[in-house]
Amino acid sequence: MTQNTEEFINHLLAQMTPAEMIGQLTQFSAGPETSPDLLRQGQIGSLFNASGALTGQGQSKSSNAATANYFQNLALEARLKIPLIFGRDVIHGYRTVFPIPLAQAASFNPELAGQAASIAASEASADGIKWTFAPMIDIARDARWGRVAEGSGEDPCLGADMAAALVRGFQGDSYSAPDKIVACAKHYVGYGASEGGRDYDGGEISEPTLRDVYMPPYQAAVSAGTGTLMSAFIDLNGVPATANRRLLTDVLRSEWGFDGFVVSDWDSVGELIHHGVAEDEAHAAIQALRAGVEMDMVSGVYHKTLASSLQNGKISLGEIEEAARRVLRIKHRAGLFTQPFTDPDRAALTLLTDKSRQLARKFARDCMVLLKNEHKLLPLSRFRRILVAGNFVHATSELFGTWTPDGRAEDVTPLEEALRQVAPNNVELWFADQPDLALILAQQVDAVVLVLGEHPWRSGENANVSQLELPPGQAELVAAMSTLGKPLTLVVFAGRPLAITRQVAQADAVLYAWHPGIEGGAALGEILFGLGSPSGRLPISFPRATGQVPIYYNQKNSGRPITPDGEFRTRYVDLPTAPLFPFGYGLAYTQFEYSNLKLSAETLRGSLQISADVTNTGPRPGTELAQLYVRDLVGSLTRPIRELKGYQHLHLQPGETRTVKFTLREEQLAFTRADGTRGVEPGQFHVWVAPDSQRGLRAEFWL
Ligand code: GLC
Repeated sequence: MTQNTEEFINHLLAQMTPAEMIGQLTQFSAGPETSPDLLRQGQIGSLFNASGALTGQGQSKSSNAATANYFQNLALEARLKIPLIFGRDVIHGYRTVFPIPLAQAASFNPELAGQAASIAASEASADGIKWTFAPMIDIARDARWGRVAEGSGEDPCLGADMAAALVRGFQGDSYSAPDKIVACAKHYVGYGASEGGRDYDGGEISEPTLRDVYMPPYQAAVSAGTGTLMSAFIDLNGVPATANRRLLTDVLRSEWGFDGFVVSDWDSVGELIHHGVAEDEAHAAIQALRAGVEMDMVSGVYHKTLASSLQNGKISLGEIEEAARRVLRIKHRAGLFTQPFTDPDRAALTLLTDKSRQLARKFARDCMVLLKNEHKLLPLSRFRRILVAGNFVHATSELFGTWTPDGRAEDVTPLEEALRQVAPNNVELWFADQPDLALILAQQVDAVVLVLGEHPWRSGENANVSQLELPPGQAELVAAMSTLGKPLTLVVFAGRPLAITRQVAQADAVLYAWHPGIEGGAALGEILFGLGSPSGRLPISFPRATGQVPIYYNQKNSGRPITPDGEFRTRYVDLPTAPLFPFGYGLAYTQFEYSNLKLSAETLRGSLQISADVTNTGPRPGTELAQLYVRDLVGSLTRPIRELKGYQHLHLQPGETRTVKFTLREEQLAFTRADGTRGVEPGQFHVWVAPDSQRGLRAEFWL
């Protein structure tokens, strides 16, 4: 439709009754209770989880075009024929399940993440979905939080890059295209700082930390054009995010210019009563709407109370109309007024293609992080008989990770079979899923691979843990196996960093596979047998023990920074202070050396060119991730000891040297200063070109 969106909306709003406007602000999870009458009266603006089972399409739990069209037809019987927008949690793939977002971040390849999101959009839209509740872009520094799996880790630079790439992947240049869907950056804001890593709990974040750590991914998502955001459950500094006008309107709209709409998280409008900031549902609805939450997910309090609040003058028609305007704007941009229905024939051609499986396999390979490889144990191709043992031996949907309602176990080649398919012909694989059997068989093989870790149900929402060690019984197997004197590789499947300190000491090689998605088995085999080389790097610090969290690389220096021999320093007496593995860390099947760090000037004016040589000094080709870090030595507020400002992959042949070049722009040194304004401050800086956040070549420059 060429007609200007705003003109179209103005014309439509002029015809709408208050009840019809409020209908646009109401979202329900579709189910047998979804009233056809409410749809016919225009009282529902959005449905999600519309599954096929509702319309006699069999018991498939997934949405599908017929179901969406069934509900859409009911909605278009309403007076003004305003189409529904169908939402769903398409977090890291739809039928083609890609690695979990935390694993995707380990690839440090936002472009690849964007490609995966584009495939997810194409698949989901074929099943009638036009809006995904993704990307989840919450910075996380506490691995006890189950939802660390869903975000991009601890760093705002990487997090912002991933956020922008995912929004663009889902939405494309225009989300009116039939194979594109509206994105929803979530959970705005600061949800990852929930105290103790406990979902739904409160959190305290200072304004500078909120601005400089937790908000950059949201600014990037808004700049990338996300159509929607979702408000968080968190009680942030005493103000629940769903009732926080400063964040939802003053910052998001007035400062950043966001013109889409905000949907609440599940029932979080109604939950303002539990938070203790609303006396009743009417008060909760008024607070959330006035704060800047345009759509109420599931709680129904907008539907139940706004009309009466309007009548008794507690809310103005203008406020309700502005909220409806924002929802209608996104529906119009999504092309729903001209294309409300889904072509039922698209799904068969779109879901789970060979191309999407190939991308899923590549992505899974690129996400895996090699943490240890003593005596170059990996790749394993030189061993003739290998035992693979552990609770993931038969894994299928266990490889998916959290938030995969549309992934199907039958689509996955079980890990055991996938390894058999990929293994070289001269390698004989034995398998054991029971510890006792594994310890017996291990006596008769040349090498052992343990495939252990956490089930996806121990990851994601409402899956917080108080202990970060391996799940019960697994540490015992690693310990027992390590006494047999066989070359031992540990593969860990998880949705979070686990405190595997003991296991790293006991194994000769450790590969972190995260929850790698539908092609995770084959991808693991390709890495283990050297058909692919590990290139992942950690997007989040790995703690030595649970008691070490929160732990993150871009920490402040404190007044008593740790020194090798220092007493009375910021440390534990019973644990080294450094993480088990730092942000940015990862090994390859070869080695790299950095040399010849150069700066284009001693003083940064506008920008500074930084270069260094990286050499592959090992026997095999490999991919290195050269990382650029800076440190602002003196500021009006204390400054992090390192901040990531750039990264580049280098694919190097044995013996090859490449010069990696970065341009550091002045605005990248800006931060929230003591007076609350954002900008740079003159002074001395350190700069590193590094293999991770703890090492690297260092130089100085002035601003
Ligand atoms: C959940 C999650 C949110 C999700 C929503 C709909 O509670 O917090 O991320 O999108 O409900 O499923």
